[in-house]
Amino acid sequence: MGKTDEQKQLDEVMMELNAIIHTSKDNIVVTDGEGKVLRVSANCHEIYGIPPEDLIGSNVFDLEKRAIFSPSVTKKVLKEKKKQQIIQHTKTGKFVMATAYPVYDGSGKIVRVISYSHDMTEIMSLKENYERLTEQIRRYETELEELRDKETRIDGVISASPGMKRVMELVQRVSKVDATVLLLGESGVGKNVIAHAIHRKSERKNGPFIEVNCGAIPEGLLESELFGYEAGSFTGANKSGKPGIIELSDEGTLFLDEIGEMPLSLQAKLLKVIQEKEFTPVGATKMKKVNFRLIAATNKNLEEMVRQGKFREDLYFRLNVVPILIPPLRQRKEDVLPLIQVFLQKFTEKYDMEKRIDESATRSLLEYSWPGNVRELENLIERLVVTTDGSVITKFQLPDILQLHDRDETDLDVEIHPQRKLKDILEEVEAKVILKAYEQCRTTQQMADLLGISQPSVVRRLQKYKGNSSLNE
Ligand SMILES: Nc1ncnc2c1ncn2[C@@H]1O[C@H](COP(=O)(O)OP(=O)(O)OP(=O)(O)O)[C@@H](O)[C@H]1O
Ligand SMILES: [Mg+2]
Repeated sequence: MGKTDEQKQLDEVMMELNAIIHTSKDNIVVTDGEGKVLRVSANCHEIYGIPPEDLIGSNVFDLEKRAIFSPSVTKKVLKEKKKQQIIQHTKTGKFVMATAYPVYDGSGKIVRVISYSHDMTEIMSLKENYERLTEQIRRYETELEELRDKETRIDGVISASPGMKRVMELVQRVSKVDATVLLLGESGVGKNVIAHAIHRKSERKNGPFIEVNCGAIPEGLLESELFGYEAGSFTGANKSGKPGIIELSDEGTLFLDEIGEMPLSLQAKLLKVIQEKEFTPVGATKMKKVNFRLIAATNKNLEEMVRQGKFREDLYFRLNVVPILIPPLRQRKEDVLPLIQVFLQKFTEKYDMEKRIDESATRSLLEYSWPGNVRELENLIERLVVTTDGSVITKFQLPDILQLHDRDETDLDVEIHPQRKLKDILEEVEAKVILKAYEQCRTTQQMADLLGISQPSVVRRLQKYKGNSSLNE
């Protein structure tokens, strides 16, 4: 008996439908309006761990109870009467994104629900991997940042230059032992900063850090300030006596700043404390024991003071156990930019302002020789933050001395230290000026005109500084 055309068409549609269902990578489940499974694609075994023949005819409510669909997306569609999407965790350990659609008949009644379940296990594990990697990268980034920070800023001390790196290496090493440290360097280079850093890194970090500026206390008071006094030991003294700074530094660090200002009369007593870790308060008869680590600092040339008889040689040797020379800022250009950044941040926060320093100004700041060292830089940045209009600091807002600064014309970086007298410094400057003019001129007369001096005087100076003059008159 031959098939009718209609039957043949139906067969073809069935064939196509089966092909669509079974070739889909997603698992397809078709139920009726009551949730009874009518059709299911063969890959349900792989995803839900149950063969198609066991699913067909079962009800989704029942399958949900058996935790095969957990939860059932079809059930949700039947309840909400619209498209639903959920993530299921199946018995086979897979993550599945299930999307289901209702199919209505002419009267608006749900007659079928069709669901597609997409295996997300791989994507989920990729996502997890991705998140883990992102987290790892974030951690490495912070670590790297911290390391970089450590490189240029140890405990808030900027040390990007080779000179400061050497200082910080020494600080690191010396802080682990109790040796006396003598901090040397021009005013404003950071001697106090380094003294603090040594204390913070040392075993004594939980003990006191006691700082005395030997230059700031009147000579007559320094002894009782340092060593303390017994009750009633002198007129005007506190009746009950007073412990001195040295006693207060017990178990901690004693920082004697401006040690060069220590009067000769007290130097012997100080030497004794350092040597014997014992001292006698003013007016007392009994010795007191004390245990401190000594750091001293000065911008004076102590050796020279010893030669001049202003500083005891034995005390100098006692202090000079580990000398640390902090170079002037002009010899550590690499520190200037990080210092600018630190101070800019400090003062914009302090004054609650938004400011940045533009490139032209930064260049001038980098070129300047900073005779007042870090303190001068810090003060200037504070002044700029407070006194400039607008949010950008430009070259034109810098003080004249920085604006006029042009490396070529003022390359007269002279060092000032106690052994060099003004006469020597002026001679050095004069030599540089003469030699520079010599490079620019063809005749000695031209030089004389340029410098505003007589031609014989040019010749004389050339002979002095160059040994001859190979220029025409
Ligand atoms: N390496 C640094 N990193 C950050 N700030 C610094 C650094 N060096 C110095 N400073 C800052 O510069 C200023 C001057 O430093 P400090 O008082 O330590 O200098 P000093 O050598 O003791 O000067 P003086 O000889 O005049 O006593 C301080 O405000 C300090 O915080
Ligand atoms: Mg100081």
